[in-house]
Amino acid sequence: MSHKIGHLYGLGIGPGDPELLTLKALRILKSVSVIAYPISERQQSLARTIVEPYLTGNQIEVPILLPFKLAESSQPYYDEAADKIAAHLHQGKDVVVLCEGDPFFFGTFMYLYTRLVDTFPTTVVPGVSSVMASASALGVPLTYRNDIFMVLSAILPADSLASRLAVADAAVIIKLGKHFRKVCGVLQQLGLMERAKFIERAAMPNQKVIPIGEVNPDKVPYFSLIVIPSHLMSI
Ligand SMILES: C[S@@+](CC[C@H](N)C(=O)[O-])C[C@H]1O[C@@H](n2cnc3c(N)ncnc32)[C@H](O)[C@@H]1O
Repeated sequence: MSHKIGHLYGLGIGPGDPELLTLKALRILKSVSVIAYPISERQQSLARTIVEPYLTGNQIEVPILLPFKLAESSQPYYDEAADKIAAHLHQGKDVVVLCEGDPFFFGTFMYLYTRLVDTFPTTVVPGVSSVMASASALGVPLTYRNDIFMVLSAILPADSLASRLAVADAAVIIKLGKHFRKVCGVLQQLGLMERAKFIERAAMPNQKVIPIGEVNPDKVPYFSLIVIPSHLMSI
């Protein structure tokens, strides 16, 4: 008799507001026996907080410590997390991995996905990304007609950011943190400061929209981004 293995779900749970989960994500979340989620070194899990209103109370929880920054030294963390999840799947239990925003959009889930997808049946459920949630919260339409839209990581060197932004009609810059000053320098150089909008913790209870010139560069949280809406917006 063949042994039943569990199903793995990478579940996009949106950017923060529990109402921004899809109906599909909610149904799957309630149906599984194991819920895994990333935790920070301080043991906090934003993903768990987002879905807390929907947890049934009798599901097994698997916190997984994942480094926020990907480096070569991150590999053992992903290997260990994948092993933990695989152990439940081998027992025939279905496992959800909670993914803030969308799982395949700069998500840490992707490193687990590549380790597990060949062994276990896997479904990825898309989620509302922070990019979309931020444009909505800021009230700035992102792209019109044939606009070229770019998503850039603030970690890139200033000259790369500048050359890409120079040819984009609209853009979002993520992973700001300590790179905020450098990004502002590039925006100034390109005359984009007027158009750029800053938001932190979009769709979370403590969401803040701050005029970009008033942001304290030493206190830019990880969950923040800059939207540069289409130049056609003002037409
Ligand atoms: C590793 S990426 C994950 C993106 C996520 N998978 C998504 O679809 O939104 C993390 C970056 O996304 C941005 N981000 C994620 N959630 C956010 C939120 N609620 N508000 C503002 N920025 C957010 C930040 O720039 C953060 O540094």
